[in-house]
Amino acid sequence: MRRVRLEQVKAGMIVAQPIYASDGRLLIAAGVALKDSYLKRLESIGISSLVIADPRFGSVEPPDLLSKNTRKQAMQVVAKSMENLRISGRIDIQELTHTVKDIIDDIFLNRDVIYNFSNLFSYDDYTLNHSVNVSVLSILLGISMDYPRAVLQELGIGALLHDVGKIYVDKSILNKPGIFTAFEFEEVKKHTIKGYETLINNSDISMESTIVALQHHERFNGSGYPFAYKEDEIDEFARLTAIGDTYDALIADRIYRKGYPPDEALDIIKKGSGSEFDPRVVPFFLMNVAKYPVGSLVALNNGRIGMVVKVKRGAPERPLVRVLKDQIKEGELSYEEIDLSEDGSLSIVKIIDGTQMSSADLFNE
Ligand SMILES: [Fe+2]
Repeated sequence: MRRVRLEQVKAGMIVAQPIYASDGRLLIAAGVALKDSYLKRLESIGISSLVIADPRFGSVEPPDLLSKNTRKQAMQVVAKSMENLRISGRIDIQELTHTVKDIIDDIFLNRDVIYNFSNLFSYDDYTLNHSVNVSVLSILLGISMDYPRAVLQELGIGALLHDVGKIYVDKSILNKPGIFTAFEFEEVKKHTIKGYETLINNSDISMESTIVALQHHERFNGSGYPFAYKEDEIDEFARLTAIGDTYDALIADRIYRKGYPPDEALDIIKKGSGSEFDPRVVPFFLMNVAKYPVGSLVALNNGRIGMVVKVKRGAPERPLVRVLKDQIKEGELSYEEIDLSEDGSLSIVKIIDGTQMSSADLFNE
């Protein structure tokens, strides 16, 4: 399997990973052969790339820290919360509490799995999926920092709602392809204060959770907004959330630009340690997030190309990689698996953008 940009997908290709709508509905299941009519529909809802089956590499199931049900439910709760705030300014704290409890339960259940943003799921709604990812990443950091369960719960709710203020920003500005004008950027910045003002009117939500909406764009060195606070002037929850928020925004494919590969996005976070991000928190982030997520195509230092099939906690940069064999006898698998945590002579140079490469590039055809 490999990810291919939508314009390069042809009818007859097999979908290797399911595609979900923003309400969690399954649009196309894995294993379905694509038709021209499906491709037109996917284009119309803004899906920019798909994971298609490629039998030479076999298939892998990218691990998600969340069960499909928890992820779907969490996206629905964020959508409903935003709708309720828009209509009445009120929010259902019980639903939120329940969802965040499920997210924390799932993460504890999968303690041997590190965060694998493999970009293998296609969703048609950025904000909802992003909110869930930021909540998961923040909770992972909270666990590494030994937060008790009740504190993780407050952090998870705050992170899930960090962008609710976007309901007050003009959609045409939010979805604008390209760079904002000075005026547009001022409008976008307002989502922090507006989100905070809305949440503060809901007395069921703790002050700690509410502050995340206000401060998640503040930066450790004082270069953020809305108040250019720095270091410990910024609430700890917001310092944590800022890292996951930035990382997930960097790697996401948007309609107007392709996301950064996860290894480059992680390097940007690492470089920002001590300037934009809290240097006491960044090391925990690097421990919890796979640099080469499962499903990534990677270039090895011996010139071969492989696909990451397993990432171990404790060795995030040295995963198990599936590499195509030079010569294949009949009835044999076309690939071999190399465990980079055991083979010190081999290493990954970088993630390869499989969407930009033809089969010929990949397989020397
Ligand atoms: Fe934001």
